[in-house]
Amino acid sequence: MEFDDRMISPKMLAGDEPEVGIRPKTMDDYIGQDKVKKNLEIYIKAALERREALDHTLLYGPPGLGKTTLAGIIANEMGVNLRVTSGPAIEKPMDMAAILTNLGPQDVLFVDEIHRLSRTVEEILYSAMEDYALDIIVGKGPSAQSVRLSLQPFTLVGATTRAGLLSPPLRDRFGVIERLELYTQYDLMRIIKRTSTILGIEIADDGAAEIAARSRGTPRIANRLLKRVRDYAQIKRSDKIDKSIADEALIMLEVDKLGLDAIDKKMMHAIMVTFDGGPVGLDTLAATIGEDSRTIEDMYEPYLLQLGFLNRTPRGRCAMPAAYAHYNIPQKNGQTTLC
Ligand code: ADE
Repeated sequence: MEFDDRMISPKMLAGDEPEVGIRPKTMDDYIGQDKVKKNLEIYIKAALERREALDHTLLYGPPGLGKTTLAGIIANEMGVNLRVTSGPAIEKPMDMAAILTNLGPQDVLFVDEIHRLSRTVEEILYSAMEDYALDIIVGKGPSAQSVRLSLQPFTLVGATTRAGLLSPPLRDRFGVIERLELYTQYDLMRIIKRTSTILGIEIADDGAAEIAARSRGTPRIANRLLKRVRDYAQIKRSDKIDKSIADEALIMLEVDKLGLDAIDKKMMHAIMVTFDGGPVGLDTLAATIGEDSRTIEDMYEPYLLQLGFLNRTPRGRCAMPAAYAHYNIPQKNGQTTLC
């Protein structure tokens, strides 16, 4: 099974849309990420008071935590338009130039996967971000001239899974850099209850808690699991989702008590058994389980680290006691001394 097909993939899957109705539109509706929220609220208020565009903002962190949602909220709270695009979608510098020239005063341009912009497209952004200007070369050969076009003041909101992948000149042009964290169980439970209310699903606290526990700290997964549990409850003629219905449905979906599935198990087993607890280098681990290193870093590891199953050391990845306990594998004496 590819990670992207998994019930617990943090990536956007086909059945996740429409998220439109359940997406929070204001800071008040947005649950969790308290630190990021508090900071952004201050910056937005200050920019509004000065009647200026908000500083360019970089949001980074694991997928599925609501970076696009936050960009929408920023635009909404600033009272401006939102234009959404992504790094891979903009192929040529002129595509980016066209988007920039069409922005209105203080508009928000959201660029998802901003680390995937090509170098030439990225270079257009430097003067656009710094001076609200576009430097365009007109003509060819000896008669070529650089012409400066002015832009409306705007806010670039960039999103990336890892800020370290951004080139320094681009990263330096963001006045605000915020890291999104995996959500707590409590916040996920609140999100599940909010979504249930919007979708007209009846859910008991213990039902919401059961789904929250298996959502890997990720609202997108929580909302997806909620929809699948709703289907199960409907077929079982159960009009309210409680702990036992949620549990039955999630067992059927092969998502374990902690939200781990067969691929997490394969990876943890490789470290615990094949590599004797580690440390094992990322590339070796990737080759062993037949996955891409980046996929492992972006999709699997954040949650395994949060659970305390995994440790990242300079020598490689190590399995921690909590992982041995969960998978019922005896830990040998002296194992992981290098971890
Ligand atoms: N749905 C998805 N993410 C959410 C969040 N952070 N708050 C409220 N509802 C959400």
